[in-house]
Amino acid sequence: NNPSSFPPNFLFGTASSAYQYEGGYLSDGKGLNNWDVYTHRPGKVIDGSNGDVAVDRYHRYLEDIDLMESLGVNSYRFSISWARILPSKPLNDRIFEGRFGYVNVAGIDFYNNLIDALLLKGIKPFVTLTHVDLPQEIEDRYGSWLSPESQLDFAYFADICFKSFGDRVKYWVTFNEPNFQVKFGYREGTFPPSRCSFPFGNCTSGDSEKEPFIAAHNIILSHAAAVHIYRSKYEAKQGGSIGIVINAAWFEPISSSMADKLVAERAQCFTTNWFLDPIVFGIYPPEMQSIFGSILPEFSKTEKEMLKKGLDFIGINHYSSYYVQDCMFTACEPGTRTSKTEGLWAQSYQKNGIPIGESTDVDWLYVYPGGMEKIITYVKKRFNNTPMIITENGYGEVTKANSTIEDSLQDVNRAKYMAGYLDSLSTAIRKGADVRGYFAWSLLDNFEWEYGFTRRFELHHVDFKTLKRTPKFSATWYKNFIAESKIPDS
Ligand code: FCB
Repeated sequence: NNPSSFPPNFLFGTASSAYQYEGGYLSDGKGLNNWDVYTHRPGKVIDGSNGDVAVDRYHRYLEDIDLMESLGVNSYRFSISWARILPSKPLNDRIFEGRFGYVNVAGIDFYNNLIDALLLKGIKPFVTLTHVDLPQEIEDRYGSWLSPESQLDFAYFADICFKSFGDRVKYWVTFNEPNFQVKFGYREGTFPPSRCSFPFGNCTSGDSEKEPFIAAHNIILSHAAAVHIYRSKYEAKQGGSIGIVINAAWFEPISSSMADKLVAERAQCFTTNWFLDPIVFGIYPPEMQSIFGSILPEFSKTEKEMLKKGLDFIGINHYSSYYVQDCMFTACEPGTRTSKTEGLWAQSYQKNGIPIGESTDVDWLYVYPGGMEKIITYVKKRFNNTPMIITENGYGEVTKANSTIEDSLQDVNRAKYMAGYLDSLSTAIRKGADVRGYFAWSLLDNFEWEYGFTRRFELHHVDFKTLKRTPKFSATWYKNFIAESKIPDS
């Protein structure tokens, strides 16, 4: 590595999310969110677990901030639990405020305490407004992202957060990986609300092909509404910046054939630009319009104007790369011939081909450090070198029946993975990409969505029974890497 390629004030941190970390799912007036309800339904999480306690960050945040301090990070990415701030059901002793329920003062206090404790240690809060969780009542009342009403509720929630925390929070993210949120929530049914627009095993409903696109549309407009509020009411006074985070894998054509190149371009566009093009340019990617036609909802003239230049930075979650093969004219494997739209959604081409890099325990994760530079270069070109932040990157393992804590602590593979990806990142920066931060996923082993506690991606081992945290080899590695980088902070 060449640490000197990281610019001054570069953010080095770890990332997390409320549902995966906090626990305290009924503490101090929090309302139920969609994940609380979903994980309590049998069969939704492979080990039958849930985030009721998770890693108990709600009670142990001071201990965790000490761990961050010892890593030497200068930033921490976390998300706010919407249902902790707006539990929605009015309690007798609270005043009904705003369009959606009362504000839970204890929830505001919790985040105030967390933010203040971080700042006391010189760690900048980097806040995601929602990392796939929302109050269940929003789902029950009008079907959350399928209804334009969601835009008003999200904007209202965002306003409360800017007002309450914006004097100290200078980095805001509206949504985490909405491209995956709609794929899993409305196409494959593996995230709440568990709807499917395609006959997958998890389907509870045979919903229309349009649903993921409608959900995406409302998320994009919700983002725009929040950005509008931030810029018109808070930015001048608070001086922060606001962006969105997308999951951006890199797609490499498996051969030099034109068909494979085109399919790689389409996959890249679908993944990277579906949400970013509207937010930066005010329109859906022309490449997607030509494939999906009228399935894509339209933006009105006013919406287009409101959308444009609707971010200050692009958050990139990058973990893996995939070879892409055209499965439209020739079946890649028996029975896998796909239509254009099918191919885009399935992204199953990666499973047909040769793995692009070393395989890991995690089925979707291949080690291909060069993908970091490639994805950054792609985003840089398409979005005119808008500032970028790597908001997640990490290496996962599956907990096996016979694995010991010692196995987990000697995570040399994780350190190697990070070294490779950070090296690739520093090359991209040296070549002119405006990247301003890197967040490792994650500080602590935690609740990995439908995989429950069976997948560990993190720098500290957590014993899920005692909740004891122990640094892994990778924590020491990251600490040394940051120290060697000697970032002059202003
Ligand atoms: C990302 C999610 C994050 C975590 C990691 C492993 O896609 O944003 O919450 O689950 O994967």
